[in-house]
Amino acid sequence: MSKAFKRYTITSALPYANGPIHIGHLAGVYVPADIYARYLRSKGRDVLFIGGSDEHGVPITIKARKEGVTPQDIVDRYHNQIKESFETFGISFDVYSRTSAPVHHETASEFFKKLYDSNKFIEKSNEQYYDEETHTFLADRYITGTCPHCGFDKAYGDQCESCGTSLSPLDLINPKSALSGNVPVLKETKHWYLPLDEYEGWLREWILEGHKDDWKANVYGQVKSWVDQGLQPRAVTRDLDWGVKVPVEGAEGKVLYVWFDAPIGYISASKEWSETSGKDWEPYWKSDDSKLVHFIGKDNIVFHCIIFPVMLHAEGSYLVPDNVPANEFLNLENDKISTSRNWAVWLHEYLEEFPGKQDVLRYVLTANAPETKDNDFTWKDFQARNNNELLAIFGNFVNRTLVLTQKYFDGKVPARHELNELDKETLESIRLFPEKIGSSLELYRFREALSELMNLARLGNKYLTENEPWKIFKTDPQRVETILNVSLQIAANLAILSEPFLPFSADKLYHMLQLDKLTWDEAGNTELLASGHELGTPEFLFEKIEDAEVEKQVEKLLATKKENLSAAPAKPQKEEVDYETFATMDIRVGTILEAVKVPKTKKLLQLKIDTGIDQRTVVSGIAEHYEPEDIIGKQVAVLVNLAPRKLRGITSQGMILMAEDKDGNLRFVSPESMVNNGSEVK
Ligand code: 2FM
Ligand code: ZN
Repeated sequence: MSKAFKRYTITSALPYANGPIHIGHLAGVYVPADIYARYLRSKGRDVLFIGGSDEHGVPITIKARKEGVTPQDIVDRYHNQIKESFETFGISFDVYSRTSAPVHHETASEFFKKLYDSNKFIEKSNEQYYDEETHTFLADRYITGTCPHCGFDKAYGDQCESCGTSLSPLDLINPKSALSGNVPVLKETKHWYLPLDEYEGWLREWILEGHKDDWKANVYGQVKSWVDQGLQPRAVTRDLDWGVKVPVEGAEGKVLYVWFDAPIGYISASKEWSETSGKDWEPYWKSDDSKLVHFIGKDNIVFHCIIFPVMLHAEGSYLVPDNVPANEFLNLENDKISTSRNWAVWLHEYLEEFPGKQDVLRYVLTANAPETKDNDFTWKDFQARNNNELLAIFGNFVNRTLVLTQKYFDGKVPARHELNELDKETLESIRLFPEKIGSSLELYRFREALSELMNLARLGNKYLTENEPWKIFKTDPQRVETILNVSLQIAANLAILSEPFLPFSADKLYHMLQLDKLTWDEAGNTELLASGHELGTPEFLFEKIEDAEVEKQVEKLLATKKENLSAAPAKPQKEEVDYETFATMDIRVGTILEAVKVPKTKKLLQLKIDTGIDQRTVVSGIAEHYEPEDIIGKQVAVLVNLAPRKLRGITSQGMILMAEDKDGNLRFVSPESMVNNGSEVK
């Protein structure tokens, strides 16, 4: 585990260039990746930190169609905006590339060709829907029809958003092309598949045996469940005209599947970096003494832990990741971040509202990072963390130290004289921080590391408060010299150790201390500032955030919520029924006793419910709306006399009643306070 690496190749998920980025992106991927990269650089390690835009895939073509522009227009627009947001937030990529770049098309193409030439793919033909009017094979999302399971008439070719079943286009009743509205025809088409099943043994040995202890539990658990369910060959080409052309004969009109080309984007970006830096990219990807780490969100785990590693392994000359510290999701004010509902804090908007406060957001998103479970961002918490932590602890300590030095010693570092016990203890504890913070960072525990950094600021604050130099200056100026000398050493240490987390504030602090940037290993030293050294002018590192400022943000969100609600007119009332008809439905309150995901489905949970009548199994399409562990013990309304149905081989004996909004978000309909299981809903 503590193998010494010579180089670090750090990748961060390439965001789709079809919209701006928001706090969820920053919290889940880019801030932790940046902290890690900055820390390693400060340790003097050789780092290549890679970012870029993911510019292929069907959603980009759908957006372009809707707007009547080309996919290239869409990605040009967002690539630049995203790149600028990252720069402004101090995400210190060594390279920020894009997958529409020629170097990427070449690299992805060669990669495919190499696997193709060495017979790593399976070729298979099957029948797929084809739109004769637009002369195109239809991607799953371009076909709609009636769900064979629940009868919903706007199901997509890959899933029914109503009952949650994952579908294949051929399952749909009355399929229609979303391009022309016509009935598509079936036409034979050939594709290339990566036989993931053949790599199961290798994956087990590499991850399930080799990384049991050092990979995060959420990542390891997901990989294990995928592998345990049995892997299937996966198509890596698509019939589409936007993407990297499949570089073999007989593949006209076909491109690489976006998830095949996107991760190769990390490699293409490295090549681009070689051009500008003059350094060789290959050791970063191929040499055993390089450490490859992928920073991603949890929805990307399978691609970065199974599919891309299999591609790299099959190619033969590349390293596989040493770790994939994926994060869970960040919610906003108790609701899922959603682009379509505009439920997000967009980075470009944040900057307009809180100019210059990038570090505040970096701080809040790290302190509250969704490292082990989904977390919630609230504006109240944002304000509290700024005012009570950054400002009251870190900022206040630095400011008091510098202002007092200015006032008493004309801004020159005073000398240190005889030390008392508290001084000695304080100096001793400073020495421990670089190691403490560093080891948390090496283990990808960013919240823990940040909280240690704040403990150093707390130490300084406490030291000043306990010594009260302002009270003794008149009587014992020499003692004040010592106190401020010690405090200034803490401030200098804070400059070094805060840099990965709060780069803008660290720069400001270095400037105030008139220090050149120091390295991580120089931290812990308590003589960073020599006596007599002249300091710069004190400035505030952080400012108070007023109630009105966050209230404005909350109101903005409330307005969004209202808009969303009014933009969703209720469906018209259904046909009248008499009471007897209604009364045939037996709806009871039951308690969820157990909940597990149904293997190989995205949407289904298998629940065990105490209905008061019995304990029974119900399969429900709510897996994207609730985590199994969060719903145990919840009381819900269950239609208990619905005829049993088989879903994925499991007999479901009843149906949970759910309320659904226009975006398909599902919420339980639950009694307002506890009632007995079996209570009738009437
Ligand atoms: O989920 C996403 O936003 C993808 N665009 C991530 C791609 S990561 C990598 F493989 F490029
Ligand atoms: Zn359905």
